[in-house]
This record gives sequence, structure tokens and C-alpha cells, in this order.
Amino acid sequence: MRKQIAAANWKMNLTYDQGEALLKEIIGAGIQLSSNQQALFAVPFPYLAMAKAAVKGQTNFDIAAQNCSNKKSGAYTGEVSVEMLQSMGIGYCVIGHSERREYFMESNKVLAEKVNICLENNITPIFCCGEALQVREESAQNAFVQQQLEESLFHLTPDQVQKVVIAYEPIWAIGTGKTASTEQAQEMHAHIRQVLAGKYGEAVAGNISILYGGSVKANNAAELFACPDVDGGLVGGASLLAQDFVQIIKALK
Ligand code: G3P
Repeated sequence: MRKQIAAANWKMNLTYDQGEALLKEIIGAGIQLSSNQQALFAVPFPYLAMAKAAVKGQTNFDIAAQNCSNKKSGAYTGEVSVEMLQSMGIGYCVIGHSERREYFMESNKVLAEKVNICLENNITPIFCCGEALQVREESAQNAFVQQQLEESLFHLTPDQVQKVVIAYEPIWAIGTGKTASTEQAQEMHAHIRQVLAGKYGEAVAGNISILYGGSVKANNAAELFACPDVDGGLVGGASLLAQDFVQIIKALK
């Protein structure tokens, strides 16, 4: 059974103390997750060790990095390798967030390399995809997202692709307060699953968690997560507020 996941993406927000206090408050809420549910916190690199310690002993709470290098190691000043992440016990990494694609020119090809290096080091990539407003206005979103999947994931074996978590984040819904409707979210998630099924078969596609991201809030998480092909969310702004993110975790199926 595929996992239902509430993933916080702090992006480049919060000081160390604020981050620690936020995690403490969320954990203090005493949420009990079932075996198919997972709460993740994608925190800035300098907070990974603190965050890992903060969730220690909490069943199905874990920490993710927000990015990694596509290179193994060496003279790449300022980069962080997956080997480094793995050596700290980090098991998840967000790959290809639209902000990385847009501001750091990350291409589908580079993202394929990042997915590979994560999988080689037993790190679960949380692979982000999603279209800009203009693409949606042209009704070209299905083909656009399909191409992102094909160019970054379709070289994987069925075994490998089942280890990837996909996050569909329509760019027009990120940080805008403009959430995709449940119909729009379900439609795209079903499309993504169908594309995966076309390449890998229904059984493999059915095992892959597909998260929705884009203005997920405490008051809309439950209806989004209730959609049959939406397996939780990747949450920016609302993950910085303890009470809101607690509600979002509790909204998991
Ligand atoms: O990765 C999460 C994301 O980009 C959505 O951000 O602030 O719209 O929840 P936000």
C-alpha cells in the first residue's frame, strides 16, 4: 500500500531556534501516525542534524533535505552530496522543486542525475513536477508534466521508480493562496498515475505516492487528501505554523 505523506518544505525560512521550537511544538501535539502515514520535514541543510534529533523516536516522523548535488564528491564548493546526507541518516531529498528549476536553472536532465544519485545512496527522492500558469492557460499541462516525468524518471527500472515519491506542484498555486481545486488536483494526479502505468504497469503506478503542493492549508488539506490519487501534500507556507501543520498531518488518509 502506498504511503500517505505530509511533507513540510521550510524553504529558506526560520532561524535555527525558530526551527527547533516549531518542531518541538508539532511533536508536542502527540500525533499518532499509522503504518501507512508519514510526516516529513524538509529543512535547510544547517538544520538537518538538529531536526533529525528532534524527531528521534517519533514513529513515522522523518527529515528530508531540500536539494542535493548531482555530483558524487569533489571540488564543488558550496554543494552538498547525497553521501553526506546519507552519512547523517537523512533518507529523503526534495528534487526539482520549481524554485530550483526556475532560479537555479535545473533541467530535467540534471534532475534525472539527482534522482539517480539519491537512489544509489538509498535516499528517497521527492521529485517535483508541475506547470506554470501560461501552460495551464494553454491547456497543455498534461503533456508538460508528462515530459518532466519522461525526461527525469523514465530511465528508471520498475523497482527504482517505486522508490520515488512524486510531488505535483502547479507553479501558479505556489505561495499564491490560489489552490488547485480538488477536481484539478485529482485530474492531474490521475494523469500522472496513468502515465506511470503506461510505462511501468498499473501495479507499479499504484505503489507510488503522489503528493499535491501549492497553497495547501489547514482548511483545505482534508478535501485535497481525500481525492483518490492524492496521497498527501508538500506544504510551504502553512508548514511554518505549528497548529496549521498539525492539522495538515491529521488530514492524511
Ligand atoms: O514545496 C511546497 C510548495 O512549493 C508550496 O508552497 O507556500 O504554496 O504551500 P506553498
